[in-house]
Amino acid sequence: MTDPRSTRAAIRHALGRSAAVVGLQWGDEGKGKIVDLLAAEHDAVVRYNGGANAGHTVAVDGKRFGLHLVPSGVLHKGKLAVIGNGVVVDPDVLMVELESLEAANVDHSALRISAAAPVVMPYHKDEDAAREKLLSTRRAPDVHSADTEPIGTTRRGIGPAYAEKAQRASAVRVGDLVRPKLLRKKIELACEIKNRTLAPLLDGKTYDAEELIAWATGHGERLEPFITNSLLLLQETLADGRTLLFEGANGALLDIDHGGHPFVTSSSTTSLGIGPGTGISTRGLGKVNGVMKAYQTRVGAGPMPTELDNAIGERIRERGREFGTTTGRPRRCGWLDLVSVRHAINLNDCDAVALTMLDVLAGFEELKVCTAYRLDGEEIQYFPVDAVDLSRVEPVYETLPGFSEEIMDVRSFDALPSTAQAYVRAIEDFLGVDAAIVSVGPDRTQTIRRS
Ligand code: GDP
Ligand code: IMO
Ligand code: MG
Repeated sequence: MTDPRSTRAAIRHALGRSAAVVGLQWGDEGKGKIVDLLAAEHDAVVRYNGGANAGHTVAVDGKRFGLHLVPSGVLHKGKLAVIGNGVVVDPDVLMVELESLEAANVDHSALRISAAAPVVMPYHKDEDAAREKLLSTRRAPDVHSADTEPIGTTRRGIGPAYAEKAQRASAVRVGDLVRPKLLRKKIELACEIKNRTLAPLLDGKTYDAEELIAWATGHGERLEPFITNSLLLLQETLADGRTLLFEGANGALLDIDHGGHPFVTSSSTTSLGIGPGTGISTRGLGKVNGVMKAYQTRVGAGPMPTELDNAIGERIRERGREFGTTTGRPRRCGWLDLVSVRHAINLNDCDAVALTMLDVLAGFEELKVCTAYRLDGEEIQYFPVDAVDLSRVEPVYETLPGFSEEIMDVRSFDALPSTAQAYVRAIEDFLGVDAAIVSVGPDRTQTIRRS
């Protein structure tokens, strides 16, 4: 038997060389691109939160891949790609994703899925849509109802699936898909509960346990080779001296606890979620890389203090191709909100940031950044995590000179226009963290690395 002390030392050592990539805004910061870039330096890429609400686009040699559940590291041949226990897994979406990877000749045999990850069931997606519909009928235009408007979810069943996990007995987990007796018991129980509670919300729709058992069993047969005890796998990987790259989904401002509740998603989207979402302690994690765009976007409802509902916002949307990977919805665009990003940096305890989409800002005479909020006549420096307060703040801007040249072909920081350099430095100074990566286009090669 190996000496337990040396095993623990090996795990700690490998964790110290491991890293995370997390989003610092309302999602879609370019995490997929940065994960793909950094995956080359690690042995495994691990998703720990969210589900198919995520849409991570990776561009390699002109080909674009839109990933929802499979970690972006899958595009590196042979790299271990792990879906951790904190991810809610929609087997229908996963199947489509695996097929599209096969069609593109991407080898996904190194994918592993945690047996403990909750399964998104069809009734979760129905409930998600029904709750949104109900909220939309309650909208009262004359009343300030920021807390009871539809959330604008992706309708991927994320909230109901996490709620079911917390409810326990009826929650189907990925490992149950290949345990026929338990699967039957859980689905029968779930159907009994859903048919009594959900039917009034769903215009009388009910669920047939046999149909759902057949659906789940079919997925279990296809997924069996991938299902594993992910905690053991990750511990063994570290003990062997191999390193992990944790891939965050969604963004810090969508965090269930520390985002602008209730316009958030249902998981811990920051580096704080890595522990529960994988079972690996982050106390000794080597590096947390935050990803932020050079401006701000948001999909779905909820306050966004720097939103530009004008020609400037439209220009950012067009140049940045700001349309959702998951739902195709146009993203709301605005000036960079440094107050909210600083909140995200602190939550994540970021070591460095990757600043993406700088190329999108070319051509503006001046660039604004929000450096404080005004609330009830007073300037505040913090991000109110309550949506009602957040919807009442006014952004306080600083104005910086813009740059006219296109920069997508620039590959070194010094070769950027001086005003673009000054924009990056102003961000670093405000946040107190270095932009170790500056991204000037979607492709792997369109990247400036400064460390
Ligand atoms: P994620 O959810 O954080 O992975 O981000 P998405 O993939 O949803 O959205 C980011 C989009 O921007 C994708 O279409 C990327 O290909 C693209 N992208 C990433 N970095 C850059 C960049 O520096 N410049 C431009 N123009 N596009 C980028
Ligand atoms: P990636 O990983 C952008 C938003 C939705 C909605 C809210 C709740 O691509 O950055 P949900 O379906 O999770 O219950 O929706 O959260 N949202 C995202 N927005 N990017 C994402 O993921 C998102 N995941 C959830 O638009 O406002
Ligand atoms: Mg996305």
